[in-house]
Amino acid sequence: MLNARIEEAINDQIKWEFYSAYLYLSMSTWYESLGLRGFANWERVQFQEEQAHALKFLDYVIARGGRVILQQVDAPQAEWESPRRGFEHQLEHEQLVTSKINNLVNLAIEEKDHATYNMLQWFVNEQVEEEANATEILDNLRMIEEGGGSGMLYMLDKELQARVFTPPATEKSP
Ligand code: FEO
Repeated sequence: MLNARIEEAINDQIKWEFYSAYLYLSMSTWYESLGLRGFANWERVQFQEEQAHALKFLDYVIARGGRVILQQVDAPQAEWESPRRGFEHQLEHEQLVTSKINNLVNLAIEEKDHATYNMLQWFVNEQVEEEANATEILDNLRMIEEGGGSGMLYMLDKELQARVFTPPATEKSP
């Protein structure tokens, strides 16, 4: 049985994962409007990843006999000043999510909930990757702004087109 404080905190995190999904889908449609199809594809995959994160938490709550209560998700921002600003926003958002995952780990330790602590380690590792991915693309966009020009933006857009979604394992995986 899931401890009430942990159940409430994971329910809150499910909302944040869905908000992340919504934010990245908004970014994806904004990139589509700019004709940057590779960027749009990359963010659409990110949208799928965030939904998978939400479901991973959701299935965990169910597996532990807890109750999932879905919350209202705020409308995300719809446009940014530039792709670089978009990825700055993404990195800031992922840093916020990392702090929320760390708070959950602290709570699991405080409540001596070893199963939740173990489940959260996947998210601790995932956040390292999430921040690294956003940082890498942001670094490329900064180089482009400092003199790479539209040819380099075209090349980066082509590169981001190649990203495909790979679903993570969940409590419901075979
Ligand atoms: Fe669900 Fe981007 O972290």
